[in-house]
Amino acid sequence: MNKHITLLFVAVTLLVSCRSNNHTYTRSEDEMNRYITALMHQMTLEEKVGQLSLPVGGDITTGQPRLSNTAEDIRAGRVGGLFNLKGAEQIREVQRIAVEESRLGIPLLFGMDVIHGYETVFPIPLGLSCSWDMEAIERSARIAAIEATADGICWTFSPMVDISHDGRWGRISEGSGEDPYLGARIAEAMVRGYQTDELSDSTSMLACVKHFALYGAVEAGREYNFVDMSRYRMFNEYMAPYEAAVRAGAGSVMAAFNVVEGVPCHGNKWLLTDVLREQWGFKGFVVADYTGVEHLHDNGVSPDHRSAAIQAIQAGLDMDMASAAYQTLIDAVREGRVSVATIDKACRRILEAKYKLGLFEDPYRYCHPERRALVRCPEHRQAARQIAAESMVLLKNEGDLLPLAKKGTIALIGPLADARTHMAGTWSVAAVHEEYKTLREGIAEALEGTGARLLYAKGSNLMYDAAQEGIISIFGHDIRDNRSAETMRAEALHVARQADVIVCAMGEGSESAGECASRVHIELYDAQRDLLAALLQLGKPVVLLHFAGRPTVLEWESAHVPAILETWFSGSEGADAIADVLFGDANPSGHLTTQFPHHVGQYPFSYRYYRTSRPNTGGTFGKYSTCYQDVSTYPLYPFGYGLSYTDFEVSEPTWQAQEGDAVGIVSATITNTGNREGATVLQLYLSDPFSEGVRPYIELCAFERINLQAGESRLVQFTITPDMLAYYNPMGIKTIEPGEYQLRVGLNSRDLSEPVIFSL
Ligand code: BGC
Repeated sequence: MNKHITLLFVAVTLLVSCRSNNHTYTRSEDEMNRYITALMHQMTLEEKVGQLSLPVGGDITTGQPRLSNTAEDIRAGRVGGLFNLKGAEQIREVQRIAVEESRLGIPLLFGMDVIHGYETVFPIPLGLSCSWDMEAIERSARIAAIEATADGICWTFSPMVDISHDGRWGRISEGSGEDPYLGARIAEAMVRGYQTDELSDSTSMLACVKHFALYGAVEAGREYNFVDMSRYRMFNEYMAPYEAAVRAGAGSVMAAFNVVEGVPCHGNKWLLTDVLREQWGFKGFVVADYTGVEHLHDNGVSPDHRSAAIQAIQAGLDMDMASAAYQTLIDAVREGRVSVATIDKACRRILEAKYKLGLFEDPYRYCHPERRALVRCPEHRQAARQIAAESMVLLKNEGDLLPLAKKGTIALIGPLADARTHMAGTWSVAAVHEEYKTLREGIAEALEGTGARLLYAKGSNLMYDAAQEGIISIFGHDIRDNRSAETMRAEALHVARQADVIVCAMGEGSESAGECASRVHIELYDAQRDLLAALLQLGKPVVLLHFAGRPTVLEWESAHVPAILETWFSGSEGADAIADVLFGDANPSGHLTTQFPHHVGQYPFSYRYYRTSRPNTGGTFGKYSTCYQDVSTYPLYPFGYGLSYTDFEVSEPTWQAQEGDAVGIVSATITNTGNREGATVLQLYLSDPFSEGVRPYIELCAFERINLQAGESRLVQFTITPDMLAYYNPMGIKTIEPGEYQLRVGLNSRDLSEPVIFSL
């Protein structure tokens, strides 16, 4: 065959294979490369740039997909994927337009923010992380993938792994809290859950690690704000979860809205190419955040969209989201400002993802309505209920008020007690709120047949100020009551007087946290605090079920309310899960992954604070020590903290030096000294008292979640390997320094054993 005939043959085979969908090929790297090379040979510059474009579903979600402008763009090969479309049939129809009506029939990627579940919604990620249960977290991602892929979606914009030390930042709800080690383990678990080992399995979906990088460090916790940080801090505190997700094989990465070292992430070559690809070996593609490329203009680094697009593609950003900026690359190439090779690189990476997902083999592989039966199936709901219970953190339980007995009269009071749309929590794009129980319904069901009486009153709105409450009512989460505050409170007091115990469901609204939900008043809203104070005046036992998407200031509540359970936003099965914990059918085992401050002024705030000159001891004011005059330097509830309905005791740890790969083994025995089964998290903290660069007093370096029967003991052993002692020194080099190290164990970061000491 001469060269021309060969090429023609490849082209025809390609067209036939794309359209007939029954082309089989082995999925070796070589085969993929040959396939994509042949395909790219056929592509015009416009079609290549088209692959770099990710519009929102937009006009295709309403009315006739076939007749929309987006459909026209798809036919013309100007679209690489779409996001936030839902439903196998609709997605099949849109995919059909791409595959049958565009010149080369290249299938589309369908993405969605499947952040903490799909229609089965798990607790918000911050809550999930408090379970410290890697298997359960992986399972939550697996279930999310099974459901989303049954509905046509093959790409999720998750995991969000941004470390944050600032409860003012609303998006702290979407991440795993403040610790890089724990964050990295969770990032890996989620990537595994979404992608499995076989991306081409039709229940696997492509993960997208976000937001690269340092988004959780926005100044003053203000959304989209400037970030300024030394590389020393960046690599020791913030980068580990992104790197772990990349090394676990995440197929895509999303750039962050913020700036790193003066350069917006979307145009930051050092970040997107040098660190991500060259240092960490990332092989997938990088996608913009929503209109992120255009924001290079708002950041004042690019005078127009064309130069923004040029800066972004040259930095290593492959796909544009929800903007037309990358369309300008066609002219930029013609003008010689961007090389075809640069476009080719980005295009290839996106086609590779499609190939690995098996979309060239069968573009409809995620569109099988019969798999819908799996969506919110009993097994998934049961898993969500269980992990929701595991994610709740018992903050206080004076006199063992909890669990409540299922008897007598219980008054359930508060604006979140009967608020259906607030159960799932922020970023529940696929949620079917009308299908989820309210807490009131969950508790009523738990009490059925017990003879216990449940009374209810709303008691207050979320806030006094209707306009403020309006801010969080987007997405139809409006539960405002038009009665006056006095009338509502009087009703609640009337109801509470008849009860033996008062259960308050109070806190933030689900959209009080999440994107663009920065707040500086992170205590309970006045309307609810006043109601709570009035209820406490009745002198009856009061339980606070606290709903939140962030760490909150519960200073007053912890001083006055006997029992407090942090329930976060616990997802579609949250009502049943809260009832399980409230009545002791589940024993709380969550441990905080973000510590709760005494005062918002303590932010940014972490248990992992660095050694300073003039150290402070005891957390209170000490002249010329690092402290505040008017508030403790310690948290109200520390990182790693969480109570149980049973008690645990941890022995002093012992150390056994090892030869070979391990440095040694730390052992401690943990005993359930109470009278019921329960789980807790044994945490191991490292200290390096003298090092070239200043290090934190303690850093989490290992943990184990342990379930024990009443009276049961277990010996827990942590193997210490040299990499656990490593850090990035002031020169930016990952180093293990010789000298003394200390290890402490405990059930939270403030209440630790004496150290075991060893030297390298
Ligand atoms: C958010 C991302 C999200 C994207 C698409 C942006 O506003 O920052 O986290 O994935 O929208 O919905």
